[in-house]
Amino acid sequence: MYKILNKQNLAPSIKEFLISSPEIARKAQPGQFVVVIIDERGERIPLTIADYERDKGTITIVIQEAGKSTCQLGRLNSGDTLSDVIGPLGRPTHMEDVGTVVCVGGGVGIAPIYPVACGFKEIGNKVISIIGARTGELVIWEDKIASVSDEVYITTDDGSYGRKGFVSDELQRLIKGKKEFALVFAVGPTLMMRAVSEVTRPHKLRTIVSLNPIMVDATGMCGACRVSVGGKTKFVCVDGPDFNGHQVDFDQLLSRQRIYLPEEKKALQSYDSAHKHSRIK
Ligand code: NAD
Ligand code: FES
Repeated sequence: MYKILNKQNLAPSIKEFLISSPEIARKAQPGQFVVVIIDERGERIPLTIADYERDKGTITIVIQEAGKSTCQLGRLNSGDTLSDVIGPLGRPTHMEDVGTVVCVGGGVGIAPIYPVACGFKEIGNKVISIIGARTGELVIWEDKIASVSDEVYITTDDGSYGRKGFVSDELQRLIKGKKEFALVFAVGPTLMMRAVSEVTRPHKLRTIVSLNPIMVDATGMCGACRVSVGGKTKFVCVDGPDFNGHQVDFDQLLSRQRIYLPEEKKALQSYDSAHKHSRIK
């Protein structure tokens, strides 16, 4: 059992959990993820480790209530326990001192760029972060990202906070402003990671994306998370989650991510109707 030590509501539907997990905290590295199982009947939920403190034995995850399982997770509170937290999984982000690294986080994908930005900064890089969300109230972890960045740029789709536009527009603007970048690292919706990769492709600017396909076992056995990278089949859970954005077949990834949408919708509807009278806002 893994105890939830603290829960914070970061924005509507976005929750942060501090979980006691000394073994995972001891080994975690930037870019890795865990699989959370809420109870004995729960499905396996892959979530990027957004922060970890080795000395305190804690990890932090940030979730967006989107489907049945994440809504169920979002209802838990400090003091509750999780049946299982498995990890750290996946390959850590490759860290190197390259000069200037741009970390791009979209929506709830802002949180996972924190440990990566931290890692790049620690080994001597200049870190420029671009974070963005649909609207101002969905911009999370601004202070944390700022604490490990030399410059931070913020966008919102509706212009309610920061500059109006997508994070990829801001990246385009910075590149046009002749900023010299050695590497771009992006986490967020698949459409955003594709857009970022298309912005950097003509400039031959190395771009790493952290993919989040459907996962089942997260141990490389089931094949659910397969993606095509540079024409080769890769399993995101064991070969990734980081890949060269210029080589990812995003069309295939997007269509595979939609496979279970009808089932996911049905599961959420039946969960919602079972809990509509006890929903915690
Ligand atoms: P969202 O749809 O609200 O988008 C967030 C931001 O991404 C937007 O404000 C915009 O700046 C950018 N964006 C979105 N669509 C774009 C497009 N077509 N072109 C260019 N930029 C675009 O995001 P959300 O609802 O917060 O969802 C976040 C997503 O991040 C989820 O799909 C989640 O699965 C994913 N995620 C991935 C990881 C990972 O490890 N890869 C971790 C956490 C979350
Ligand atoms: Fe099964 Fe990756 S989730 S192989």
